[in-house]
Amino acid sequence: MTESREHKCECLEAYRDIDRVIQKNRGDRGALIQVLHYVQERLGYVPRNVQVRVAQALGVSLSEVYGVVTFYSFFREKPRGKYIISSCQGTACYVRGAPEVLARLEKDLGISAGDTTEDGLFTLEVVRCLGACGLAPVITVNKDTHGRMSEDKVPSVLNLYRKKAESEVTVAGT
Ligand code: FES
Repeated sequence: MTESREHKCECLEAYRDIDRVIQKNRGDRGALIQVLHYVQERLGYVPRNVQVRVAQALGVSLSEVYGVVTFYSFFREKPRGKYIISSCQGTACYVRGAPEVLARLEKDLGISAGDTTEDGLFTLEVVRCLGACGLAPVITVNKDTHGRMSEDKVPSVLNLYRKKAESEVTVAGT
């Protein structure tokens, strides 16, 4: 299983590199998307305070920067979790109980679809079809597919990834 690459470093070094790229492109309005891409690559999202810095340095309005960040789905304004849960609400899944699965995910995670848990472990998203309709209702967690889901199966799926994250911390600490 391949882990998410969305959990990015927010260390000082990343911010220093971002500042360097912003300064290098000072006054170059045409570099906006390229600079935002760099920020996204380094942090995994484009925080509002960095949007302000980009706008000031490149000489574009903050609303223009915000417009680009919100228009392109590649850009995100919030950090994403280590595990991205995609809950399919496409027709095949919907009629087989996907809304109940989603409601249970939201309840157990304590977040709404589109949000990330405070510990940064899970981001919950809604998608329209995961291309596995025969297994409906389906969720994916990063690249893992969990088919024939039910709300009762939600706790065990979440625990699987909580334990996985814990064991990674333990291994890293030994
Ligand atoms: S509708 Fe859910 S996988 Fe296709």
